[in-house]
Amino acid sequence: PVDKINKLSSNYAPGVTNSSITGGGQITDPTKSALHELDSDAKLHGIDISVISAYRSYQTQIGTFEYWVQREIATGLPRPQAETKANLYSARPGHSEHQLGTTIDLKCKSCYDFEISESNLKLYKYLEANCYKFGFAISYPKNSLELTGYKYEPWHIRYIGKDLAKEFF
Ligand code: DAL
Ligand code: ZN
Repeated sequence: PVDKINKLSSNYAPGVTNSSITGGGQITDPTKSALHELDSDAKLHGIDISVISAYRSYQTQIGTFEYWVQREIATGLPRPQAETKANLYSARPGHSEHQLGTTIDLKCKSCYDFEISESNLKLYKYLEANCYKFGFAISYPKNSLELTGYKYEPWHIRYIGKDLAKEFF
């Protein structure tokens, strides 16, 4: 488990390679095989996927979290409140599943990142119904803030293997 309680050490770095999917990003080999299976199936549903973000090192997470904290501070929040708010959608360093190399944020190929468009919503709906078949779980489902500590992220999938994913689904 990697969540708000369980964290990875700063030097935890899995072996990762390029996803070889539009958008790139680095992921572990088992994740890559599963993602390519999902990509082929999505194409049959008329969906072209693109990777927004994949493996994030501990160092990268420091920068990412600080970026969002600064954005919240810019709206007028004091630092502690800005951190709390940013942490509803951005993990603190070591607490991101992206450090596992098994986790990917997806968008439709012709969509902007996280855009709420028909094509992206079609992808999210597809992932919700099908990603478990390839071993992925949507880590932050709708209405799960109390459980996960994070807002709904339909684009964020984590490879956990087919058996576990089916159980999770
Ligand atoms: N957006 C998710 C929670 C992350 O930062 O890993
Ligand atoms: Zn993500």
